[in-house]
Amino acid sequence: MSGDPRLDATRSPRAKVTTPAIVEMKRRGDPIVVVTAYDFPTARIADEAGIDILLVGDSLGTVVLGYETTLPVTVEEVLHHTRAVSRARPSALVVADMPFMSYQVSVEQAVRNAGRLIQQGGADAVKLEGGERVAPVVRRLVEIGIPVMGHLGLTPQSVLAFGGYKVQARGEADQERLLREAKLLESCGCFSIVLEGIPARLGTAVTRALAVPTIGIGAGLACDGQVLVSHDLLGLYHGRSPKFVRRYAELATTIREAFERYRDDVKARRFPSERESY
Ligand code: KIV
Repeated sequence: MSGDPRLDATRSPRAKVTTPAIVEMKRRGDPIVVVTAYDFPTARIADEAGIDILLVGDSLGTVVLGYETTLPVTVEEVLHHTRAVSRARPSALVVADMPFMSYQVSVEQAVRNAGRLIQQGGADAVKLEGGERVAPVVRRLVEIGIPVMGHLGLTPQSVLAFGGYKVQARGEADQERLLREAKLLESCGCFSIVLEGIPARLGTAVTRALAVPTIGIGAGLACDGQVLVSHDLLGLYHGRSPKFVRRYAELATTIREAFERYRDDVKARRFPSERESY
């Protein structure tokens, strides 16, 4: 063993994760692990770690591109990053997010853009936000063979309508509507549904009511899987973290310290050494 996974020829790759396999994981009671990925090295590392789904989320806009919200993110940007993730040829399922205004105009527009993410981006599935209003789009995409992940609750593309990033469906009527919309998305053919920023009890109720898996982010422990934005869980993002984020590393600190040590070495003419020179 070299210790370097890139050089370890004995490593047996996992079987490719498919959308039916994700549905089967719910049936088996096997929790589904999802992280966002926007580039080749992160996709490689997350795949080696045994992550089930890599989501090229439109969170790309806020954590990588420096936008204040996900609203300015374009199909071209998601496509560019989906290609980078796909080039890692991960066993994990690759899901590309459909950005704001890439599926709202018409079913035809949605088909064209989802088709690009699959055909040119190499994604295995797409994700889009909303319930009843996106049902015709979901139906058509599924009909032509594009697997769709739904997204309900605190859907960030509706931040202007919500008046901020607020927990959704606290009241009874909203809870009933969300449950109804989750069932509708399932009946339209979604293979899974992200539930974001809703009371844990509602996450439990929706999870119990569906045969397809729920993927929670701030939706409680009962969801069939969990998703976190990788920059949040790795401690790479400087903005305010929501309550549901658990940090598994402090990479911003690690990276800053490495840059400082490099800076000091260059300034003190300690880098490069003879061994590092030709
Ligand atoms: O864009 C994204 O990363 C997402 C997840 C947070 C679910 O939609």
